[in-house]
Amino acid sequence: MGLDKKRRAAEAALAYIESDMVLGVGTGSTVTQLIEALKARKIQLSGAVSSSRQTSESLKDAGIPELDLNSAGPLSLYIDGADEATATCALIKGGGAALTREKVIAAAASRFICIVDDTKLVEVLGRFPLPVEVIPMARSYVARELVKMGGQPVWRDGVVTDNGNVILDVHNLRLKDPADFESAVNQIAGVVTVGLFARRRADVLIVAGDAGVRTFNAEPA
Ligand code: A5P
Repeated sequence: MGLDKKRRAAEAALAYIESDMVLGVGTGSTVTQLIEALKARKIQLSGAVSSSRQTSESLKDAGIPELDLNSAGPLSLYIDGADEATATCALIKGGGAALTREKVIAAAASRFICIVDDTKLVEVLGRFPLPVEVIPMARSYVARELVKMGGQPVWRDGVVTDNGNVILDVHNLRLKDPADFESAVNQIAGVVTVGLFARRRADVLIVAGDAGVRTFNAEPA
């Protein structure tokens, strides 16, 4: 059931893809549906920029050539899932620990399309614990700073990111002003990336539910 909605969100995003483009590709089970749809429809890309080792494997299986972001030039489109999203296209991401590369590719892309099922849509971000990628020696210090900011950080024990860092998942947040919170967490020494995508939010949010697919557009900055 959940996978069916993810597949429908992914298929709705195909309308934004032009053949022979270089596509930025996110991480997660919804993105896996996107890669499978690209393969099934035989959509030819000139290449893809991957946000994780997991996605690189899926791209390889689908026969889509992977390009390095440094040599790909400006990207016209990035497509990714999210862990939580608002109708104003602000997101929490990083449940799959790929937040840093995802944030870099989203920043480098002219257009960011986010694909989710309707269980991810919320009024206020924070029900999903906010992932924060931290360099290992700063873990306890950053955790104490996050407590001062009202959160309850929990070390994602045993997880090492593709960049060799660790993740703190911050519980008990209710992010009424996510852009300000994103800036504040970015100021903590030792933080590599906070999984809030409120400043560079999605441009288009595609939400698949039982009744069909809805599309939300971010207000122009
Ligand atoms: C990966 O780090 C995350 O940002 C994913 O985009 C997010 O967890 C969505 O995953 P699913 O598509 O598997 O729900």
